[in-house]
Amino acid sequence: LAKVEVDLASIPEGKNVIIKWRGKPVFIRHRTSHEIDEANAVNVSSLRDPQEDSDRVKKPEWLIMLGVCTHLGCVPIGESGEFGGWFCPCHGSHYDISGRIRKGPAPLNLEIPEYEFSSEDKLTIG
Ligand code: FES
Repeated sequence: LAKVEVDLASIPEGKNVIIKWRGKPVFIRHRTSHEIDEANAVNVSSLRDPQEDSDRVKKPEWLIMLGVCTHLGCVPIGESGEFGGWFCPCHGSHYDISGRIRKGPAPLNLEIPEYEFSSEDKLTIG
């Protein structure tokens, strides 16, 4: 299965990068400490698809997920929506800074692909 390696040193804090993996977009966000705090401050039991932020990341500063809306598969837009994360313009789903669905028709959080940190500054997806 195809793997993709990403150089994390080139992604500044507070920035999103989109790469292609197996024909799908993968979102990589270098989260700020404020964003990590925000992701952890959410009352998980209030969520449609309850998931702790810590169950969605391997390192809190790196959020890696498939850029495919869990409603009907559009690509959400970064740094938008009402919850500080992503917004899907197709039918109005709002995802938070952990990629969790917060409002709109999508049933599930944005999916987390298989990945590992192959070294300090290298991410391998797949
Ligand atoms: Fe994203 Fe419908 S495909 S809200």
